[in-house]
Amino acid sequence: MSDDSGSEPSPDTRDGYDQARWADGDRYEPLLSEKNNREVEVDTPLPDHLTRDSLELPQLSEPELARHYTRLSQMNYGIDSGPFPLGSCTMKYNPKFTEDLAAAPEAGVHPDRDGDTIQGTLELYGQLQEYLASIGGMDTVTLQPPAGAAGELTGVLIAQQFHEHNGDDRSEIVVPDSAHGTNFASAAMAGFDVVELPSGEDGRVDLDALEAALSEDTALLMLTNPNTLGLFERDIVEIAEMVHDVGGLLYYDGANLNALLGRARPGDMGFDIMHYNVHKTFATPHGGGGPGAGPVGVSDELASFLPTPHVRETDDGFERYEPEHTIGKVHGFCGNWLVLIKTAAYIARLGDEGLVDASAKAVLNANYLAEQIEYEIPFGPFHHEFVASAGDQDAADVAKRMLDYGVHPPTTKWPEIVDEALMTEPTEIENKRTLDQLAAAFNAVADEDEETLEAAPNRTASRRIDQVGAARNPQLSWQALDEE
Ligand SMILES: Cc1ncc(COP(=O)(O)O)c(C=O)c1O
Repeated sequence: MSDDSGSEPSPDTRDGYDQARWADGDRYEPLLSEKNNREVEVDTPLPDHLTRDSLELPQLSEPELARHYTRLSQMNYGIDSGPFPLGSCTMKYNPKFTEDLAAAPEAGVHPDRDGDTIQGTLELYGQLQEYLASIGGMDTVTLQPPAGAAGELTGVLIAQQFHEHNGDDRSEIVVPDSAHGTNFASAAMAGFDVVELPSGEDGRVDLDALEAALSEDTALLMLTNPNTLGLFERDIVEIAEMVHDVGGLLYYDGANLNALLGRARPGDMGFDIMHYNVHKTFATPHGGGGPGAGPVGVSDELASFLPTPHVRETDDGFERYEPEHTIGKVHGFCGNWLVLIKTAAYIARLGDEGLVDASAKAVLNANYLAEQIEYEIPFGPFHHEFVASAGDQDAADVAKRMLDYGVHPPTTKWPEIVDEALMTEPTEIENKRTLDQLAAAFNAVADEDEETLEAAPNRTASRRIDQVGAARNPQLSWQALDEE
């Protein structure tokens, strides 16, 4: 946290906030297809069975197009609009210099080009593998998985292949009840039975419960440290010993690595496999299940199981090769190159000292914000995030009402060990002034009545949307809308 608020007083709430609403009466900004559609004759040398007779395309000028997308962006809330303290899901500001580097003409190489002609690209892969390995205390890192969740599945498949290779038939993965849903999903997707580990009264792993959950069937224990309550697993060395004693492996969900960056390393704690959520720990666009990156680090004994191709340095330069017992491919080529450029650039720009400073600020900011808000925080001491309880209020209503104060709300209703959870992670990017603004929004909402909360949001472009419908039945094209 930096106190760069100058001589200006700290803000109270953003009481006069109103989000832009581009609409004509009840009609929002029209779809492009509704703006000016015209049949376009298609004249092409391609054979008939590969072409259409005509194409309905919007005929719009460049300014019309630019205005359309600017209006849509103004009706949205993003990290470039204001604070976004989404616990665990972590939204971080992406410094623009990383975007410039990824957009440089030199970055536009085809991933299938001959190795001799892209030595610079492969060298950057190699360098980033090394950066990440050294940050995590791992021996080798693959950059192929396209998101944290995809990294988890990759790690689980590596563990599976490792056990199978050793002729060891293991069917269970142990996951604490405070873990992210993707941990359960990744284990189940790979065909394992999931053993849920109940948290102890202090919100951490309970060693007796762990003892009861572990057996000769345990392939893996998946652990987030600090966990999703922001609590450091103090017994981690003992936990690692217990898992290894039954022949299992220990997996680190790297979602919360920004709390430890430059200070402690999962590899040194006894973890065998880990993923890095580069959008949480460094700064890249969100993994979002696919378009980002979720590199996976492993110890030496697991290196031969990594996805193919992997990049390594030889006497003749850098090359892609197939690891001996590879699990196969988990994504195209060597991963999402343009996202990986941003990760490498961010790490290089911050350097050792900058990374250590980032973790200090992530923890300081969470603790400062927690001190300022009126909601109760049942578990601590926490690191980079905390989970407050909305108490008698409904956490989802609190979230909607916070939008009226011009800030994004925290993650709500998870983890379930906290009643009406408000899981909050301001991250290292915010300064004192913004944290005060966030705290003022929390506290304003804490004092409001149920009726006000249930009526919220009032100042946003759209009111309450059908969240379940949007997730389960998304309409991703104008054709789907037209068909309704
Ligand atoms: C603890 C934890 N693990 C894993 C994930 C999955 O990461 P990604 O969104 O990059 O797929 C998340 C996502 O927010 C998370 O919070």
